[in-house]
Amino acid sequence: MTAIPNALTIAGVDPSGGAGVLADLKTFSALGAYGCAVIAALTAQNTRAVTGVQAVAPDFIRLQIDTLFDDVRIDAVKIGMLGEAATVRAVAEALARQAPPFTVLDPVMVAKSGDALLDRAGVATLREALLPLADVITPNLPEAGVLLEGRGPETKPEMYRAAERLRNLQPLARHCWVLLKGGHLPGAELLDLLFDGDRMIELPGRRLDTKNTHGTGCTLSSAIAALRPQRPDVPAAVTDARAWLLRAIAAADQLDVGRGHGPVHHLHALWAAAGQRQARQSVHSKEQYP
Ligand SMILES: Nc1ncnc2c1ncn2[C@@H]1O[C@H](COP(=O)(O)OP(=O)(O)OP(=O)(O)O)[C@@H](O)[C@H]1O
Ligand SMILES: [Mg+2]
Repeated sequence: MTAIPNALTIAGVDPSGGAGVLADLKTFSALGAYGCAVIAALTAQNTRAVTGVQAVAPDFIRLQIDTLFDDVRIDAVKIGMLGEAATVRAVAEALARQAPPFTVLDPVMVAKSGDALLDRAGVATLREALLPLADVITPNLPEAGVLLEGRGPETKPEMYRAAERLRNLQPLARHCWVLLKGGHLPGAELLDLLFDGDRMIELPGRRLDTKNTHGTGCTLSSAIAALRPQRPDVPAAVTDARAWLLRAIAAADQLDVGRGHGPVHHLHALWAAAGQRQARQSVHSKEQYP
């Protein structure tokens, strides 16, 4: 069997390429996974706003998933923006049937621009039908508040309590990990928490000073999906996914995409390596043809 994992994203399209399936495919490609994508919704979106969402017919989402799984071995799935309850239901039914070995659920509810990306009925369906299928869930702080039916954590001590309460949500599988992302807390010190009901793993970091953080959440969840088949366990995949995301955020200002929150630089390492190769080749060709 080939060592190259096949990763699937089921999510929305962000035409600006910073989030959604386009970002997920760049992430899979950068991290050594072959990328597949099932489109669950279209959006009209730039780096500043989401101006429209177009659902895909639920039966057609089921058909996309079943047709793909009929032929392609899928090693990891990332679920992102779904938009509405019927979409959530279609994805949950198809994945329950296909039972992929690893699923990361990014419970996308609100865009960085503040626009809603999942309606109320969709939240209820996600809780009941999708949470049980996840091996990792990756809520940000406002999403944690919605899942816990209260306000989101606003301090680090509240984050620990929220991670514990999230892990206790009844529909979660016993082995499911909660990755609670703390990017929304103010201040220079960042904290993400990874908790499986037993081990509370603190993942601290420093906030990089850039406005180009569009799609950090999408990128992190797809990086975990790409890396899990290549790592011994979930903590190793999450740790390496975060380290790689940090480098992608650090390189984000190299890109010039839009006037709002621009994308992170998913291909930073590949382009840097290709640039070095190109430089070496041009030195070599000058020597040959002076
Ligand atoms: N400026 C930053 N510098 C370094 N790390 C960051 C920064 N912003 C976010 N992160 C990290 O990026 C990851 C995504 O976190 P965040 O809380 O922003 O998710 P999100 O709100 O779901 O993102 P999105 O709005 O893209 O969906 C987390 O690991 C967080 O710690
Ligand atoms: Mg997010």
